[in-house]
Amino acid sequence: MEQQTLISEIGTDTLNGLSASPKYLLSKYFYDDQGSSIFQDIMQMPEYYLTDCEFEIFSTHRKQITNAFKDGVQGFDLIELGSGDGLKTKVLLQFLMESSVSFRYIPIDISHKANVELVNSLKKELPLLNVSAQTGDYFQEVKKLNGHSGLRKVILFLGSNIGNFSEEEIDLFFSQLSGLCHQGDRVLIGFDLKKSPDVIMNAYNDSHGHTEKFNLNHLLRLNKELNANFNPANFEHHTEYNPETGKVKSYLVSKTKQTVSVGDLDTDFHFNPWETIFMELSQKFDYQGIETLAQNHGFKVVENFTDNRNYFVDSLWQKI
Ligand code: AVJ
Repeated sequence: MEQQTLISEIGTDTLNGLSASPKYLLSKYFYDDQGSSIFQDIMQMPEYYLTDCEFEIFSTHRKQITNAFKDGVQGFDLIELGSGDGLKTKVLLQFLMESSVSFRYIPIDISHKANVELVNSLKKELPLLNVSAQTGDYFQEVKKLNGHSGLRKVILFLGSNIGNFSEEEIDLFFSQLSGLCHQGDRVLIGFDLKKSPDVIMNAYNDSHGHTEKFNLNHLLRLNKELNANFNPANFEHHTEYNPETGKVKSYLVSKTKQTVSVGDLDTDFHFNPWETIFMELSQKFDYQGIETLAQNHGFKVVENFTDNRNYFVDSLWQKI
């Protein structure tokens, strides 16, 4: 029998990305166990204001936020897309538990490990919480829920995770989300706002080197999972912010002419000196853009919750 070569999803994506011109890798592959732990380091540095801002927003406005969730109904399903460690969400969960409203928490993440850890910590911290974690694709999992309870859905997509999507992907995401929502369902989306370019650059080009390590770890992952032979010392990390478009773009730049082989793909990739690999987009938004996104996809903005520096907004929408 002929031998069948099965190329994994990361294999196919890596082949496409490194064969393209200019080269790119997909930011969803940052988060292996090592990458997730480096991202925790990023979130803990003061320069990475996003996490602190959203934490502040949830702490300050938890009453208004949860009132808007439960407004007019007896109970609801609280669904979080890409829940990760759930640190910020716990502020809301705690408050909802104390205010004795009836709800179920359904965190959805692609990482099984993250789910297990989240559920274990919730069992300890909020033992009475009704939680059912799902591992898998966001929309598939939400679709499964639709038939079940018939309750209002409140869908959370926090941390400016939306910022990793291109404009087309953002439109696709909100179209799908809107398609899964019934009239009156709520969504709460975290958007990082445009602000002083210096503040943004410090968050994505930190002096501790965490962000560089986070990017280089993608290459190490390819070494481990696809038998590649990247030497991270041959690449340097570069980030730019364009205040006109609101785009933070990050790159790894090849310091020399080099060839990297990816064993599992049976392919060699050539790099010219100073050739780039585009690693990540982190889009920054403004209120007008957020309003337009909501309107274009069948939602109305109920309320925008922001921090005291007006760096970040959690925008609460209602399906119309
Ligand atoms: C998890 C996508 C919100 O873009 O700010 C942090 C990831 N990349 N530093 C972001 C990230 C570099 C982060 N998101």
